[in-house]
Amino acid sequence: MSGPDLRRAAAARALDLVEPGMRLGIGTGSTANAFVELLGERVRGGLDIVGVPTSEATHAAATRAGIRLATLDEVPELDLTIDGADEVDDTLRLIKGGGAALLREKIVAFASRRMVVIADAAKRVGTLGRFPLPIEVNPFGLAATHRAVEAAVSRAGCAGEVALRRTADGAPLLTDGGHHILDAHLGRIPDPEALSAALWAVPGVVEHGLFLGIASAAILAADRDGAAEVT
Ligand code: 5RP
Repeated sequence: MSGPDLRRAAAARALDLVEPGMRLGIGTGSTANAFVELLGERVRGGLDIVGVPTSEATHAAATRAGIRLATLDEVPELDLTIDGADEVDDTLRLIKGGGAALLREKIVAFASRRMVVIADAAKRVGTLGRFPLPIEVNPFGLAATHRAVEAAVSRAGCAGEVALRRTADGAPLLTDGGHHILDAHLGRIPDPEALSAALWAVPGVVEHGLFLGIASAAILAADRDGAAEVT
């Protein structure tokens, strides 16, 4: 099965968790988009939910799908958030932010009673870190923050390049919140909690893509003889 089929299979299973009247956090990325499409079909069939999107891109996709939306200020407590991830370990620690939406994704997930991850099972890892860790930083004093992040990474027992994320035309990428992203190419993160604490100690860091103790479950889809096996 192709990646899109696996993402859709995980998204379809997540739809079973959605109940009428729910206040739903809606994630960002291709897997979350598959969920938005399927949720839109159910909404058009009469399901009444309200969604809080985690990015401008998801806001646009959910609006196109006919899903009723609210801001987190209007609905500050959510029942469930469904979102993708870049990596998931055995204890449900995540790396997120490949789509640069990590700040809103973390705020929305934290405001939810449950966060359920949907992903292709290839995202499951023994040790986090093969995927570059996104770190959202304030543009003010970027060079100083960049150096401080490199030092923090090394204090937390990690090694590797920290690179400013750029768009296709070479400009520094701007997130929905008007910040930049530093991607830390670490290979492995032996102690995610230590790295999280070290990064939070840097004043210019707005948020980082380690989601620790936030996800409650993961729905992972793998190819089993040409059919999706969802666990
Ligand atoms: C966006 C994210 C995404 O959830 C993550 O990048 C996974 O995306 P995809 O489902 O396209 O693989 O964290 O900031």
